Amino acid sequence: MKEKNYESVSPFGPKIATLRLPPELVEDLNAFCEALDEDAALAESLDHSVYLVGKVNQEITIPNELIAPYADFFINAIEEYMFDIAVNIHMMSSFRDDDQDFKSLKDQAIRDNMTVRTQSQSGWIVRSVAGDYNPVHSHLTATLACVGYLRVPDWEDEIDEDLEGHSGPTHGCLQFHYGDQGELSVNQHTVMPRVGDFYLFPGWLQHTAYPFKSKGERRSFSINFAADMQRLSMTITKADGSVVEK
Ligand SMILES: [Fe+2]
Repeated sequence: MKEKNYESVSPFGPKIATLRLPPELVEDLNAFCEALDEDAALAESLDHSVYLVGKVNQEITIPNELIAPYADFFINAIEEYMFDIAVNIHMMSSFRDDDQDFKSLKDQAIRDNMTVRTQSQSGWIVRSVAGDYNPVHSHLTATLACVGYLRVPDWEDEIDEDLEGHSGPTHGCLQFHYGDQGELSVNQHTVMPRVGDFYLFPGWLQHTAYPFKSKGERRSFSINFAADMQRLSMTITKADGSVVEK
């Protein structure tokens, strides 16, 4: 087989992190939705739609006590995201083979000497049925926004059909938009919702959720986070004792 002689990097622009949600979080939020279906007054009192742009069946504020048990998951995800950005900013994009020790020392120094502060601002569940959609929007008041998927419709046939279409799948998809369409550059990223998938991205990054036709519910949640990162003094001591950065 011919050896591949090609690599590329995508060093510019925002990052979209993908994680898997704790299964218990998915179960808890789904149970909360099912309880709401039996309690119209509670659903009414938690209506979040006035703050949102979605053209969807129901948007519900998530009570803090439902999210609190999973604070570590969100904090760890945000720390990892912020460190990921910091490492990319402070690292050279490529290291020589004999730089690998220094690369790992520097990576660790960045992680050890950055502090990340984060706070959730608001959280809500979006419940969509056939024909619902979420127009292109951003979460401008948030440093970081996220989407986690709790349920998807019975849409296998619809997706199969859409995959055979002329321009790739969109039905029911989440799509991110960044910058203008330039020659030889990519300005869209499309993902198919899957239960348990979690996406973390800058609040300003525009995104949309396309409608679907199938029976059932696309159920997701989002949380807006404020976050910042501080760099403390940083010193890296190499194996030979020399100090290479302060
Ligand atoms: Fe959004």
